[in-house]
Amino acid sequence: MKKITAFISLALLCLSAKAATDVPLVGNVLNRQTTSLNGDWHYIIDVQEEGYYDYRMNPTRWGFFQNAKPRKPEDLIEYDFDAAPTMKIPGDWNTQNDRLFFYEGTVWFEREFDYTKKEGKRTLLYFGAVNYDSHVYVNTKHVCHHIGGFTPFNTDITDELKDGKNVVIIKVDNKRHAEDVPTQIFDWWNYGGITRDVLLVELNSSYVENYKLALDKQDFKIIHFSAKLNKGTAGEQVTLRIPELKIDKSAATDAQGNVAFDLKAKPELWSPDNPKLYKVTISQGGETIEDEIGFRSVTTEGKKILLNGKPIYLKGVSMHEEKANGGGRANGQDDARQLIGWAKELGCNFIRFAHYPHNEHAIREAERMGVLLWSEIPCYWTIAWTNPGTLENAKNQLRDMIMRDQNRANIIIWSIANETPHSKERDTFLSTLANYARSLDNTRLISMAMEVTGQSNYVNRLNDNMNQYVDIVSFNQYIGWYRDVNDAPKMKWEIPYDKPVIISEFGGGAKYGYHGSKNQRWTEEFQENLYIENLAMIEKIDGLAGTTPWILKDFRSPRRVLNGIQDYYNRKGLVSDKGEKKKAFFILKEWYSKR
Ligand code: GCU
Repeated sequence: MKKITAFISLALLCLSAKAATDVPLVGNVLNRQTTSLNGDWHYIIDVQEEGYYDYRMNPTRWGFFQNAKPRKPEDLIEYDFDAAPTMKIPGDWNTQNDRLFFYEGTVWFEREFDYTKKEGKRTLLYFGAVNYDSHVYVNTKHVCHHIGGFTPFNTDITDELKDGKNVVIIKVDNKRHAEDVPTQIFDWWNYGGITRDVLLVELNSSYVENYKLALDKQDFKIIHFSAKLNKGTAGEQVTLRIPELKIDKSAATDAQGNVAFDLKAKPELWSPDNPKLYKVTISQGGETIEDEIGFRSVTTEGKKILLNGKPIYLKGVSMHEEKANGGGRANGQDDARQLIGWAKELGCNFIRFAHYPHNEHAIREAERMGVLLWSEIPCYWTIAWTNPGTLENAKNQLRDMIMRDQNRANIIIWSIANETPHSKERDTFLSTLANYARSLDNTRLISMAMEVTGQSNYVNRLNDNMNQYVDIVSFNQYIGWYRDVNDAPKMKWEIPYDKPVIISEFGGGAKYGYHGSKNQRWTEEFQENLYIENLAMIEKIDGLAGTTPWILKDFRSPRRVLNGIQDYYNRKGLVSDKGEKKKAFFILKEWYSKR
């Protein structure tokens, strides 16, 4: 009997999974007609996924997503979202409940919302990010399954919505696995949960799914515009307006729902010194989307990076997406402003948003503040290079990062990996990603953080086959931390590629306020001396086009356990987890002031 029940459950579950439709990511969601579902959500910690599987580990029909309530006094229901505690969404669970600080597993979230359906409108449910594996249910119907902890997704829930009270439930599981992206090991905290905005997005049945505006890379008097409808409807008028440039141009979509045209204009070019943004509107079928767009060109010429045709040196710093004051996933403008403010204080014109796509508010804040960005997908360390599902996952994250941010002038580099071990399988996997990124966006540069594998007699030679697939050759080196700082003056660096070079990581740890001699590990003096020696060393590297020292701020990591010093923080920050600037901060600031 149990077998039949299980089979019926599975069949029904598959059927219900078909109900809603995953739709491609909607561009510029923040400026669409949205209703926020941010706020207090009930949550249930479900260590053994009792709310999803029966006692034979088959998906159950009677899962927590049914949101069942006892009808008769004798009814047995072993969960109740209404009686469960709440936490603030967006927000990771680790820093909102001490019992979840280290937790890796499933947590269910639930909230109700009132809704009035509108004739002819579609309603999408949008998540800015959910880490890591999530199943979403609306009024008990399964509407989508998403994998990936740092990219947005949306699903059309029009047919599941009711007038009046609706209930959305989401199962979030942040357990790590070898075939995931990232894999089961990474040097940052595995913050789980609904870590970015949740929005209801109201659209016409035929809407502008995404659009792209970009200055021609060579001719700064030409702007390329393209837009794509969600459906292949021909003859839909799409109008682009940029009032300050006296642009007001319409064109009809083709049978695939695409429209594209070039514009002659002489825009003020976006740059760190002049982060000029133009008010832009895209109209179609009664919807008008507002955006602010900067126009700039980024290219390379030999070992130089050119911004708007002129060589630029990237005075950068690396940064994790963590709140300015002591941990937890950052997800809003205030944290971004504080963190990017510290980078600007250093004299930075560039930030490496490591090791995954950061939230959209931070990217737009950096754009307004004139800070160029490196944006990266978490192909970090030992990815399962030969697993087709892993490649699909990495491609999806790359696509969604590009589709979300393709109109952000300050993003100049898409990075496809960090510190990955050399192998034919890895080159096949990553070159597929590099080519895919270029097929989606040929207006930016591709890079990845490599490692120098060969060193003899103080000669460090970068020798990575992936050099042929990237526009910028970047690599991490840790002279002074994982190797003796006294070797720095003797070090020679050979990068045999006629491409710009970025030192995408160097640095060392220090506990703020711990002082001693410069060879005493963990003191601020040790870190200060490490920066002095490294900056003097990298200055001699031919073709050095920039650097992003590791890292702006101390950040939580389960790999950094040393009590009394690290306490589950990686202490390589130039700023402590409490916002205190270490001595090395001022060494880098001084060095940048001279470039
Ligand atoms: C690596 C890695 C970082 C890590 C750093 C460190 O280079 O890219 O993610 O945090 O080293 O060891 O602190």
